[in-house]
Amino acid sequence: MKFLSAKEIYRRAGSRKGLPAWTYNSAELTELEMEQVFLRNWMFVAHVSDLPNSGDYQCFAMSNERAVVVRDQDGQVRAFHNVCRHRASRVVADDNGHCGKAFICPFHGWSYNLDGTLKNIPRANAFPEIDKSRFGLKPLDCEVWQGMIFVRFGGDGQSVAEIFSDAAEEIGLYRIQEMQPLEKPYQYNFDLDWKAVLDIDNEGYHVPVGHPELFDLVGGTYTDQPLKSGLFRSFGSFKDRKHKLQRNRDYVAALPAESYLPESHQQLWIYWGLFPGFVLTLFPDQIEIYQIYPTGHQQSVMAGVSYALPDDRPEMKKARELNRDINSDVGNEDIRLIEWAAAGMRSSAFDGALLSDLELGIATFQNRLREILPVVSLEDAPAEGSLRQVNERMLAQGRVAAVK
Ligand code: FES
Ligand SMILES: [Fe+2]
Repeated sequence: MKFLSAKEIYRRAGSRKGLPAWTYNSAELTELEMEQVFLRNWMFVAHVSDLPNSGDYQCFAMSNERAVVVRDQDGQVRAFHNVCRHRASRVVADDNGHCGKAFICPFHGWSYNLDGTLKNIPRANAFPEIDKSRFGLKPLDCEVWQGMIFVRFGGDGQSVAEIFSDAAEEIGLYRIQEMQPLEKPYQYNFDLDWKAVLDIDNEGYHVPVGHPELFDLVGGTYTDQPLKSGLFRSFGSFKDRKHKLQRNRDYVAALPAESYLPESHQQLWIYWGLFPGFVLTLFPDQIEIYQIYPTGHQQSVMAGVSYALPDDRPEMKKARELNRDINSDVGNEDIRLIEWAAAGMRSSAFDGALLSDLELGIATFQNRLREILPVVSLEDAPAEGSLRQVNERMLAQGRVAAVK
C-alpha cells in the first residue's frame, strides 16, 4: 500500500487552514455537494444478509433520489429507482421488507417483476396502447463487494472493487460476506453541515483527550494512513498493553483466543474510510459500517449498522457487548465534540483552523473536495446565487491551467 505523506498532502497553499467557515453554512454549496459528490459516488445500502431471499428489499433515499435494492428470483441483487412509471409513487410502502414475486405500487397497483420489467397495469384498457418494455423501473448502478451492497445514482467513476483494491486483501480476511446482522441499525440526525460531522471522524489526534477510554485501549498505537488511492486507513492495537480501565481489560480478556483471523489482526481495531462519508470498522469480534451524508442545509445523518460471523461462544457474546458499550461511549463523545466545534466555527472569532500532521485524514478529504468543487477554496462565499457559476468558472480555469 502506498501512503501519502504530510508533505504531499499539505502541498496546496492554505490547506493547513482547513476549509473556510462559510463552506460549513451555505445552502447553495450543500446543493452542489449533494449533486456533484454524493449523487456521483457509491453509497452503502445494505449487506447481503439483509436480503436473504428473493423478494427481500431495502430502500435508500438521498437528496431527491430514491433507490430500492432487491434480491431477484435468480438470487441476483439489483437496484432500481424507487419511482413508479405511472405517476412516480414509491413502489414499496416500507423501507425494507419482502415484496414476494413483484413490486406492487401502493398507489394504483402497477406491478413490476423483480428484474424491473413492467408486469401488469390494472384496468389496462383505460390507457392508450403502450410498449410495456419501455415502462420498466429504471435501473441503478449497483455493486456487491465483499458482501456489502452499494448503489450509485450517477457518475461513471471506478467500481467499488477498483476503489478498494488496496484494501481488498485485508478486508477479505474478515469474511464479511458470511456475516449476519448483529445490532439494529442506528441513525443520528445532526442539525449541522455534513463536513462538520465528518471532520471529527477523519483524524486520530483527538483520541488521547477526546476519547480517554479508547485511548486506554489502544494508546499511542493509533495511526492514520491516507492512501494514494483515496482510501483512508486508521488503526489502533491493544496487543501487549496494560489497560487501566476495567471495561477494556474485560473486553480484551473476553476475546476468544481461537480466532478465524490471522494473529496480525486479532488485536487491532481498523477503520477504512472512503470518500465522501463511508467508514468500515473492522474489529476482531464484529464489523461496523457507517456513513455520513447531507440531508439538507445544516442537516446531516450518520447511519450505522453492525455485522458479525455467527458465533455463540459466551465469551464472544460478552466481547461483542463490551465492544458495543465502548463504541457507544466513543460515539457520544464524538457527538458532543462535533457540536462544540461546529458552534465555534459559526462564531465571529473563528478565522480558520490549524491542521497538524496528525490530521491528515481531514486534509486529504478537503483536498479531494477542492478538486471536485474548487469554489470551496475561496476565502469568502461567492455572492448569493452565483456559487454554481463561480465553481464552473474555476473548474474551467483549472482545466486550462492543466493543459498549459
Ligand atoms: S403511481 Fe404507481 S401505480 Fe400509479
Ligand atoms: Fe472520535
